[in-house]
Amino acid sequence: MVRPILAAAAALALGACAAQTGEVSQAALADDGRAIAEAQCAACHAVGEYGESPVAAAPTFRTLLARYRADVLEEELIAGIQVSHPMPEFQFNPQGADALIAYLRSIQAAEQ
Ligand code: HEC
Repeated sequence: MVRPILAAAAALALGACAAQTGEVSQAALADDGRAIAEAQCAACHAVGEYGESPVAAAPTFRTLLARYRADVLEEELIAGIQVSHPMPEFQFNPQGADALIAYLRSIQAAEQ
């Protein structure tokens, strides 16, 4: 009688732990992504939660995922993004791309 209950409790505790680690690493990833965005993208794009892009044609990062699917964008970042002419070509390693996407997800405007 006691065992199944203990097992269930252990499973619950494990689940809670895993969820917590996941959140922490997403936050850490997003932090890295913010640093990448500020260093490499902020000259043209508004990379934060407020403000307009320095280059008017460059979409603000907080609205990017409304137009781009995150998984597609991540692939493009790794493959070497060349979305259009005014954009310099970037090529990210999977960690860098992951971090940027995590950051983008964290700042998307609430109405999306
Ligand atoms: C030299 C200026 C410049 C820099 C630096 C820059 N971008 Fe851009 N980016 C642009 C411009 C301008 C556009 C809009 C192009 C157009 O729509 O024709 C654009 C468009 C984009 C788009 C496509 C958006 C859409 O809706 O089609 C993505 C994604 C993007 N940039 C990501 C990035 C990322 C990630 C970085 C940093 C690693 C970055 N850009 C750095 C100028 C820049």
